[in-house]
Amino acid sequence: MNEHDSERIAGLLESDGYEETSNQSDADVIVVNTCCIRENADNKLYGTLGNMKQLKDDNPDLQIMVGGCLAQKDRELIQQRAGHVDVVFGTHNVHRATALLSDARSNGPVTEIWEEADPDEAFASALPARREIDYAAWLTIQVGCDNSCAFCIVPSVRGVEISRTPEEIVAEAERLSSQGVTEITLLGQNVNSYGRDLALAARRSGDQSVRIRPAFAQLLRSVGAVDGIRRVRYTSPHPKDMTTEVFEAMAETPEVMPHLHFPLQSGSDRILRKMHRGYRAERFLAKAAQARETIPDLALTTDIIVGFPGETEDDFTETLRVAAKAEFDSAFTFVYSPRPGTEAAEMVDDFCDPDEVKDRYARLRTVIERSALAKQQGRVGVTEEVIVEGPSKKDPTRLSGRTGQNKLVHFPRPEGPLRPGSYARVRVTEGHTQYLIGEFVERTAAASHRTRIPVL
Ligand code: 5AD
Ligand code: SF4
Repeated sequence: MNEHDSERIAGLLESDGYEETSNQSDADVIVVNTCCIRENADNKLYGTLGNMKQLKDDNPDLQIMVGGCLAQKDRELIQQRAGHVDVVFGTHNVHRATALLSDARSNGPVTEIWEEADPDEAFASALPARREIDYAAWLTIQVGCDNSCAFCIVPSVRGVEISRTPEEIVAEAERLSSQGVTEITLLGQNVNSYGRDLALAARRSGDQSVRIRPAFAQLLRSVGAVDGIRRVRYTSPHPKDMTTEVFEAMAETPEVMPHLHFPLQSGSDRILRKMHRGYRAERFLAKAAQARETIPDLALTTDIIVGFPGETEDDFTETLRVAAKAEFDSAFTFVYSPRPGTEAAEMVDDFCDPDEVKDRYARLRTVIERSALAKQQGRVGVTEEVIVEGPSKKDPTRLSGRTGQNKLVHFPRPEGPLRPGSYARVRVTEGHTQYLIGEFVERTAAASHRTRIPVL
């Protein structure tokens, strides 16, 4: 979500006449877009701003802006701690970025935080965006979150759930397709509760025929049907709201890629209850098994937090057991960090011993990497269609691509051009924990976006 907000901010600046520079000391404006979901991002902001003080001393016309959810949380504190910051803005007024810059230029430093989203301005994708990648795009379908996971700061900084209408989403997908985008990732904090607010609003206004449940499943089918869109992905669903209809839509819509990011958080029912996650471990495993049965060749990934307050060795053993049983293709694993204002941050007496947490974290990584390696090696011999991302960072004689399961694959550069955004078939020859190695078979589709030609 933050990355997509950054693209919007860049898009707004670009439509105001600014151009990107890779050199900070050339910049007229520097935007620091922050995230506060975990503590380390928090710690980085003030150091980063401190380093920028010198740039501002050298170039007094430079304007520094801080946005994102950490700005939403810290507000005036940012300018108190870093007086050289010109603009502080939050998650609900991203669209105000350029107006705030000119306001600050005339009237001095400004902090503007909106308490809630204006539904007309809520959607990142509705603003001009300067996409990082030409052939793949984020598409926001929903902002905010109505859940209250005890560890999570998102609801307090992103607000309540607001869904964008299906018509607008499909129109946006069509527009992206006409620009040559072939891969779309639908974005939301809890995508499978997508449309609940729209259905409730429709019922309140008298239309009792509106169904609440399959809205997200239907959306997957509709976006998959957009001409020119070859790949649809989404992030993130909530296990408690996951329905059979979503799995069926994934299975029956070839454009929806066989990858499910399914955040477990903990394998202990006691901890899941304390987290207010709304499911038990066995239910999570049953849904994961159902997903695998319904969707051929599905890759399953997850998020897990280690050291939630009160986590005992027995709780953690349950997490290891469930993680091993789920056989994840990969996982983002996090050490719990208290976030101000959240319920878990108050459980100070139950905070886990940091050395213990470090040890658990390493043990969890071992379990995750075991199944990850097995899953990767299971691809050896398979011919996969990949979207070409460009030269491999480590070895420019190779290209890198992504398989439908979202696995990274490196393969020797074939004769002839194969530019980023093209599709190719690659036969997998080696499976490593973080990547696959393969050999080029054939090109299946040329990239359809226009390449930007630098204007000199
Ligand atoms: N501490 C550690 N991890 C967290 N996450 C969210 N809040 C916290 C926190 N306070 C993790 C969750 C979530 C992912 C995006 O970040 O696993 O799914
Ligand atoms: Fe945070 Fe839970 Fe909402 Fe996800 S579902 S954003 S973890 S509160």
